[in-house]
Amino acid sequence: MNFLQAGQGADYINTGSWSKKAIAQARRFGDVYVVASSEDRNFTYVPTESDLTPSARYLHFTSNNTIFGTQFRDEPTPTGDAWLVCDASSDIFCQPIDISRYGLIYAGAQKNLGPSGVTLVIIRDDLVKAGALDIPEMLQYRTHADNDSCYNTPPTFGIYVMGLVFRWLLDQGGLEEIGRRNQEKAATLYDYLDEDVLFKPTAETGSRSLMNITFVTGNPDLDARFIETASRSGLSGLKGHRSVGGMRASIYNAFPPAGVEKLVDVMKDFAQQHG
Ligand SMILES: Cc1ncc(COP(=O)(O)O)c(C=O)c1O
Repeated sequence: MNFLQAGQGADYINTGSWSKKAIAQARRFGDVYVVASSEDRNFTYVPTESDLTPSARYLHFTSNNTIFGTQFRDEPTPTGDAWLVCDASSDIFCQPIDISRYGLIYAGAQKNLGPSGVTLVIIRDDLVKAGALDIPEMLQYRTHADNDSCYNTPPTFGIYVMGLVFRWLLDQGGLEEIGRRNQEKAATLYDYLDEDVLFKPTAETGSRSLMNITFVTGNPDLDARFIETASRSGLSGLKGHRSVGGMRASIYNAFPPAGVEKLVDVMKDFAQQHG
C-alpha cells in the first residue's frame, strides 16, 4: 500500500500460503509479477528467481515458509534500483541477518519475538519518506517513524516483552549463538528423518527450514496416531497445518534442544512399533 500505486509494479516470489496472500493483497494496488514459484511441487522447495522486472519497485519474499517447512538459505537479489522486502514473521532473528541487503523487513512477533499483536518493521530511512501520501496517515510508515512508534496507543505489553526477548537474545550470545543452536536443533531432527524408514521429511534438502520441520508417514491415520502418542508424552502442537496435513515440529528460538531430543526419542519408539 505504501509502495505500489496504479501503474507501478513489484516482483514477488511465491513460496506458499503467506506469499500468496501477500501477492493477492499487493494486486489491489499495482502490478504484481510472480518471478518465481514452487507451486509446481507443492511448495516443497525454494525457487530461484529469474526474469526480474526492470521496472519493479521492490522484490518481495517470505524468508521462511511456516506451513510447508522451507526457508531461503540466502536472500534473493533484486534488480536495478528495486529493494528487497521480506515477510520474516516466522524466522526473524533465528540467525544473523545482513540488514544492509533489505529495504524493509516486517515480522509478526508471535514466533520468535514475543506475544501476538505486535509487528516489528525494520525499514530503510529513505523508504520511510518515499511511501504514498494518499493513504490513511495511520498506515503510512512515516507517521510511525515521526512519532517514535507512539502515534496511537501501541500494544505496550507486547513491546515490553519483546524488549525482554531482545535482552535474552543478547544474554545468550546474540544471533550468532542462537543461529548455532538452531542449526544444531534442526540437524538433530533432520538427521533422524533422513535415516528413518517410517517418517519422511517433506521439504527438499537445501530448502529445509530451521524453524518448522515438516514430515509425514505417508499414511494419514498413522500420522494422527503419532500426533496423539506424542501429545501423551507432552509434545503438543505437532499437527501439520490443515492445508497440508502430516506433522510439523515448530522449533522456534525459545524451543529447547532437550525438546527436540525428546521428540526424536518418541519418534524412534513409534517407528519401532509401527514401522
Ligand atoms: C510467514 C508468515 N507471515 C504472516 C503470518 C500471519 O501473521 P498474523 O497472523 O500475525 O497476521 C504468519 C503466521 O503464521 C506467517 O507465518
